Amino acid sequence: MTDTPMAKLRHDPNGIAQAARLLRDGRLVAFPTETVYGLGADATNDRAVAEIYAAKGRPSFNPLIVHVADGEAATRLCHFNADADRLSGAFWPGALTLVLPLRADAGISKLVTAGLDTLAVRVPDHPVAHDFLRAFKGPIAAPSANPSGRVSPTTAAHVEAGLGNRIAGLVDGGACPVGLESTIVACVEQPALLRAGGIPTEALEACLGQPLLIAEDPATPTAPGQLASHYAPHGAVRLNATSVEVGETLLGFGRVDVPLNLSPTGDLTEAAANLFKHLHALDAMGVTKIAVSPIPDHGLGQAINDRLRRAAAPRP
Ligand code: TXA
Ligand code: MG
Repeated sequence: MTDTPMAKLRHDPNGIAQAARLLRDGRLVAFPTETVYGLGADATNDRAVAEIYAAKGRPSFNPLIVHVADGEAATRLCHFNADADRLSGAFWPGALTLVLPLRADAGISKLVTAGLDTLAVRVPDHPVAHDFLRAFKGPIAAPSANPSGRVSPTTAAHVEAGLGNRIAGLVDGGACPVGLESTIVACVEQPALLRAGGIPTEALEACLGQPLLIAEDPATPTAPGQLASHYAPHGAVRLNATSVEVGETLLGFGRVDVPLNLSPTGDLTEAAANLFKHLHALDAMGVTKIAVSPIPDHGLGQAINDRLRRAAAPRP
């Protein structure tokens, strides 16, 4: 809990300077990235990172992604192999997180990695995140800025509704253009996909010239974000719905005439950008049964279906 009310900050020199100051003081600041809003803390400050876990109500074994301003800053934290060089060269800044061996002298709080000897790192492609990282001049640990297990935030209003009383600052940068979390690839030995996300698997494999291993066993906590029920709206979720049953509200895709349609034209990029926004809207409407139209399982459809399967999984 913060004892002072959350500061709503703008994307201007004053707002960014204040956001950086709050981080330096060990406080939590939520900020937009191109994927979703992040809940940021100084990645070198144990107490500040502990606040992230407390604010989210997050299981402590779940490690965090560290955000840096550029690839050079990432090389000071991690060891890059040839695959990591290739992927970071092609997709940074952008919606790709690399899990890499942590450097002994990186100075990252052990709470960030939850004791692992690898670090998840990415260079976000968003003007606010970029300016914030430059002003702070250090690595920012940031999970998605939602209470643990709930839907990720893609607007400042989502962050405020979920965590407004637990954070010191929130930089408003409008809606997140990608709308889905980053794709996570481990480049430790063979490159392995840990989480589908904003960069399609096909694009990564084309860049690497080989298929990614799929580390998808839900029992393995290598990417605990992968654990069964996650990204859950309040209502029950039924997938691949080609008709609507009594009491259900349809989350549409393609040519169905409903108020909440991920993409009436069947565009997967638009659907990704709308996914969490529409799930939040269904929560706000108090919907108890959600039916979801079938979504094609290629490109960004893979990541969308991954999130929807988790939303539909039995709740703990
Ligand atoms: O787009 C995103 O990735 C957003 C924005 C804010 O950058 N962040 C995000 O963070 O989605 P989060 O904490 O919600 O998800 C991080 C995922 C988790 O599934 C976590 O288990 C995994 O990254 N992760 C972090 N460090 C890891 C590591 N060393 N090895 C394997 N997985 C790791
Ligand atoms: Mg998350």
